[in-house]
Amino acid sequence: MNLEVNLAGLKLKNPFMPASGTFAYGTELIYHTEAINIKEFGAIVTKGISIKERAGNPPERIAEVPCGLLNSIGLENVGIERFINEKWPLLKKLDIPVIVNVFGEKEEEFEFLAEELDRACVHAIELNLSCPNVDKGGMEFGQNKKSAGRIVEIVKNKFKAGPVFVKLAPNFVNIIDIAKECEKKGADGLSLINTIMGMAIDVERREFVIPRGVAGLSGPCIHPIALYIVYRVYHEVKIPIIGIGGIYDYKSALEFLMAGARACQIGSMLFVEPGIINKIIKDTEEYMRRHKINDIKEIIGCMQIRKIREEKP
Ligand SMILES: Cc1cc2nc3c(=O)[nH]c(=O)nc-3n(C[C@H](O)[C@H](O)[C@H](O)COP(=O)(O)O)c2cc1C
Repeated sequence: MNLEVNLAGLKLKNPFMPASGTFAYGTELIYHTEAINIKEFGAIVTKGISIKERAGNPPERIAEVPCGLLNSIGLENVGIERFINEKWPLLKKLDIPVIVNVFGEKEEEFEFLAEELDRACVHAIELNLSCPNVDKGGMEFGQNKKSAGRIVEIVKNKFKAGPVFVKLAPNFVNIIDIAKECEKKGADGLSLINTIMGMAIDVERREFVIPRGVAGLSGPCIHPIALYIVYRVYHEVKIPIIGIGGIYDYKSALEFLMAGARACQIGSMLFVEPGIINKIIKDTEEYMRRHKINDIKEIIGCMQIRKIREEKP
């Protein structure tokens, strides 16, 4: 039985990996494998890295909502220098492709991060152009076709060590147009989707639950939205897509593959069930045995294009 996929040149032993920001730097669990066997993962995706160390937003930064999670972490991270010196040496010892998620407030910051990560020879970059939890950068770039394309061009020009994935979210944008522009400017793949802007209000205190007001919504409640986006974008671009959003079991992961994703990331549900990625791998193998599927690629993009009535439901 073959679960291997080729993700823009990265050879993954299976399509399943953690989503950025929900698995720290991937180094914390290397030696603690009772609940989680990281060595089975198809890849590792790091927390978003910026040039300088960031403290993130003040609390409350996380709130549970029905079937989901609101977060406003604000990209707390150790910064590129400490990442390369402290985290990367541990990560590169694992025999697993590592995708480094990066974030910048200006074009030049993305350029600098791309240069540093190229020098360190990390395996791939995921550009976070869609974070709703910061005042500068983040979403700004991913909401505009031109600026998204420009960041891709800049990063592709400096980062030669591996593929560059662009992470987008459907917040007030035509995600198809932006995805196509990123492909045109050289993106090797797309990560769809980041969190969707959301909010919760404490009616007793008449205050926002998350002080910043707006936060990023994730978890099972966004799964159908993310699935639809992956399906739609899959039929518009040729580059591979990583499906992200609300995966809670092997079926919700396989839905992404059937909709056209080449791989999947699991985020919020890691907080509920830390061993979920290992479980999804095992359950997928069982599913393949049951359905006599020899190669996972048989189901990738197996849903036919149907005419979808978007304008007049
Ligand atoms: C606590 C938390 C932190 C996150 N941090 C990042 C980040 O640093 N960079 C990024 O691109 N996405 C980040 N995300 C978004 C996730 O990677 C993922 O796109 C989103 O949560 C949807 O997947 P899920 O529903 O499986 O959680 C974060 C999500 C959560 C819940």
